Amino acid sequence: MKLDKKVALITGGGQGIGRVIADNLAKIGAHIVLGDINLENAEKSAKNIRDNGGKASAVLLNVVDPVNVKQVFDFISKEFKPLDILVNNAGITKDGLFVRMKEDDWDRVLAVNLKGSFLCGQQAAKQMMKQRSGSIVNIASIVGVMGNAGQANYSASKAGLIGLTKTMARELAPRNITVNAIAPGFIDTNMTRVLDDKIRDKLIEQIPLARLGLPVDIAHSVTFLVSGQSNYITGQVINVNGGMLM
Ligand code: NAI
Repeated sequence: MKLDKKVALITGGGQGIGRVIADNLAKIGAHIVLGDINLENAEKSAKNIRDNGGKASAVLLNVVDPVNVKQVFDFISKEFKPLDILVNNAGITKDGLFVRMKEDDWDRVLAVNLKGSFLCGQQAAKQMMKQRSGSIVNIASIVGVMGNAGQANYSASKAGLIGLTKTMARELAPRNITVNAIAPGFIDTNMTRVLDDKIRDKLIEQIPLARLGLPVDIAHSVTFLVSGQSNYITGQVINVNGGMLM
C-alpha cells in the first residue's frame, strides 16, 4: 500500500483517533494536512509525523464555518495539490437526557458532526470530481446505528452522517470517488475517558472482544478504505466495535 503524491486532510486531527489516522496514512507516504479547531494540537500532530520522516502540515480549521472551510480547501489545492483523501473525523459530544436536552447542545453537536462533514465533503468533492478520483471516509459511530440513552443529539448526528455517506457515494461514484463510513464502537480516547469506571466496566461487559477499541483499530480501517485496496467498496458502513453490534 502506497500513498506517495497523495494529499489527505484529516479533520479533528489534533488528538485522539484523528491523530492516529494521520500517523498511519503518513507512514505509507501521504502528505497529511491536519485541520483542527485546536491549532496547537494539530501542529503537535504534524511535527510528530515530520519527526518520524513523514510529510505533514497543520491548519486552523473550524468545520462549522463555511468561509474558513473554503479557505482551507483552496489553500491545500494551491499549496500542495487538489485533495485525494478526506477523513471527516472532527466530532464532539454534549450528552444529556433527551427530555432535558438544551436546544443549544442539540444544535452544536449537529453542526460539528453533521454539517461540518457536509461542508468539508462538498469542498473535497469539487476538487476530486475534477481529478476523477478520490476517497472520503466519514467517522460515524455505533450509536448512530443503535442509539444510546443520553446521546440523542450525538446519535442523530451520526445516523445523519450515515445517510449523507450513502447519498454522496451514489452521486460521486460516476466520478470514481468512493465514500464510506466507519462506525466505531467505544474507543479509548479523551471522549470516552470522561466516563466513570463503573460505566466503562458495564460497556466492556457488552463487548465480545472484552476491551474498548484503540484509535489504531479505526486507523487501520481508514487506511484500507483510502489505499487503493478497496476501490470497489463505496456507500458502506464498516462497523469496528469489538462485536458489540452484530
Ligand atoms: P477527541 O475529542 O479526542 O478529538 C476530536 C478532535 O476534533 C479534537 O482534536 C477537536 O479539537 C476537534 N474538533 C472539535 N470540534 C471541531 C471543529 N468545529 N472543527 C475542527 N475540529 C474540531 O475525539 P475522538 O474520540 O478522537 O473522536 C474522533 C471521531 O470519532 C469523532 O467524530 C467521534 O464522534 C468519533 N467516534 C469516537 C468514539 C470514541 O469512543 N472515542 C466512538 C465513535 C465515534
